[in-house]
Amino acid sequence: MSRIMEEQVLLFGEDVNYDRAKEVKEFDETKAGVKGLLDSGIVKLPRIFIHPKESLPKYDATSSCLFHVPVIDFTGYEKCRRLEIINEIKEASETWGFFQMVNHGVPVCVMDEMLKVIKVFHEQPREVKKEWYSRDHKMKVRYFCNGDLLVAKAANWRDTIMFDFQDGPLDPQGYPLVCREAVNKYMEHILKLKELLSELMSEALGLKKDYLTNIECMKSETVVCHYYPVCPEPDLTFGTTKHSDPSSLTILLQDTIGGLQVLHQNRWVNVNPIHGAFVANIGDFMQLISNDKFKSVEHRVVAGSVGPRASVACHVYPNAFQKYRPIEEFTSDENPAKYRETNITEYLTHFRSKGLDGYKALPYFRL
Ligand code: OGA
Ligand code: NI
Repeated sequence: MSRIMEEQVLLFGEDVNYDRAKEVKEFDETKAGVKGLLDSGIVKLPRIFIHPKESLPKYDATSSCLFHVPVIDFTGYEKCRRLEIINEIKEASETWGFFQMVNHGVPVCVMDEMLKVIKVFHEQPREVKKEWYSRDHKMKVRYFCNGDLLVAKAANWRDTIMFDFQDGPLDPQGYPLVCREAVNKYMEHILKLKELLSELMSEALGLKKDYLTNIECMKSETVVCHYYPVCPEPDLTFGTTKHSDPSSLTILLQDTIGGLQVLHQNRWVNVNPIHGAFVANIGDFMQLISNDKFKSVEHRVVAGSVGPRASVACHVYPNAFQKYRPIEEFTSDENPAKYRETNITEYLTHFRSKGLDGYKALPYFRL
């Protein structure tokens, strides 16, 4: 850029020669993700990743001292501590929309192995990864950089490999070889944990334990495995912009690097990594059917100068062909239904049309 043009940029705050769509397309076509950019030796962040100043994190040292995301010990969930655990889930889901789970029954070695192979996948040579790169929602296993790259105003410093179980189980032969065994094993355990959470959440809502399973609210999963490489200028971007999940529930595994934050009482609070723990968070769809009893809360991942960071988010979705509305038990003359009837397909179509970017999809469905 010439000096004069640079001055124009300073004067008018906008570069007339900046064709964002073109730069996004060129980057997408490399199929190498942000890991590819880092490997190419960049030291400055390409501008498609730079977020507007007003949305960038302002470090608030007090929040994480004042508040702590509830940690729930699942020991004794079958009998002696069940009621206590249900109460803790209820309290956390109503106030935080987030909680961490320890002693949940999934072997730590299965969790560690999953995080390891996700890193291995993303650290393969570009030529190997490239064949999995796709934005086609019909592909059940695919790798991409930012699901909303083409619609969002600013991109995030994150790559993802996704496994979509919406239409039922997948043939493990269709997974990349490096992660085949670990993903398979991980899913075996996560499905059991999902069934358990379905029971405990039903009871936390004051319903019969098989309620959420019977209405097929926890029917299928999409598993997104994120890779956040070290970021050359972490103060200018995000790992994941603030958003709430469109799912019924999300079961998240994060490694020990940190960076996940949740909005609580208008402050960003760190979800401190605990080795061997899962994070659970209420999704928009659960908030909708519970008529706002359980809260789907905004969260984000800050970009870091240490890493890479890996995480695995299992988004649990309702039956795609069924319509849902706030459950009768949560509506009355004094507290009428707050949302109109919808299904997850319609919900996701609306959600995806906006990109993460802090947009809230739920109010669009409010009566
Ligand atoms: C998500 C998400 C957080 C993380 O996938 O919806 O919020 O720690 N992930 O990667
Ligand atoms: Ni999320």
